[in-house]
Amino acid sequence: MLRYVTTNPGKVREAERYLPDGSVERLDFDYAEVQADELGPIAARGAREAYRHADAPVLVDDAGLFVEGLDGFPGPYSSYVEDTLGIERVHEIAADLDDRRAAFRCVLGYCDGEGFAASPDPVDRGDRDAAAAAGPDEERGAGGSDGTDPLPVKLFEGYVPGRIVAPRGDGGFGYDPIFEHDGETFAEMDTDRKNAVSHRGRALEKFAEWYADR
Ligand code: IMP
Repeated sequence: MLRYVTTNPGKVREAERYLPDGSVERLDFDYAEVQADELGPIAARGAREAYRHADAPVLVDDAGLFVEGLDGFPGPYSSYVEDTLGIERVHEIAADLDDRRAAFRCVLGYCDGEGFAASPDPVDRGDRDAAAAAGPDEERGAGGSDGTDPLPVKLFEGYVPGRIVAPRGDGGFGYDPIFEHDGETFAEMDTDRKNAVSHRGRALEKFAEWYADR
């Protein structure tokens, strides 16, 4: 059984749409989110911590909103910015920009304690470098016999382009009201429509295809 590690039951319901019946359940475990400039290392670190906690295959995700005209801000800091500035302020800041294009990105991190020998791209290189740079604590794990190889994690990325607009719609969560894709904000879409185009849906689709052979 795969554990989707999240405090948000909605994410598990979304994952269930992509995976065989009864193959995934929620693990309510709040792993420590490291501060990093990219989503991959955050998801990878979370997957390792969650795997050590669960001792079973785990999937974690990390997502963020990247505004082009702000050089990708808030990106990995999206949660913090949502909690502090709020999405109205993010819209106000973006309203002064010439370029209001933005994207949601999601990175899923999968870990089951085994390597990915059959896969051409087993471990995110940047994450491996980041883990090595972080020192011995990060290097612990089942991934290597010499203690320098972190627990293997497989990453899957999803992306959806759009632009920042004045808030519209009352569905969804987070930045949904100010993110427009194809003429509708995410908060105006019903759940099926959002899932069909969302960053998390795209990443889950890639994961489900790969996981079927795992
Ligand atoms: P998390 O990685 O799912 O915790 O998300 C990080 C931040 O991005 C939080 O502020 C979320 O509200 C926001 N976020 C992630 N996915 C979405 C989405 O699908 N719609 C709106 N906001 C999102």
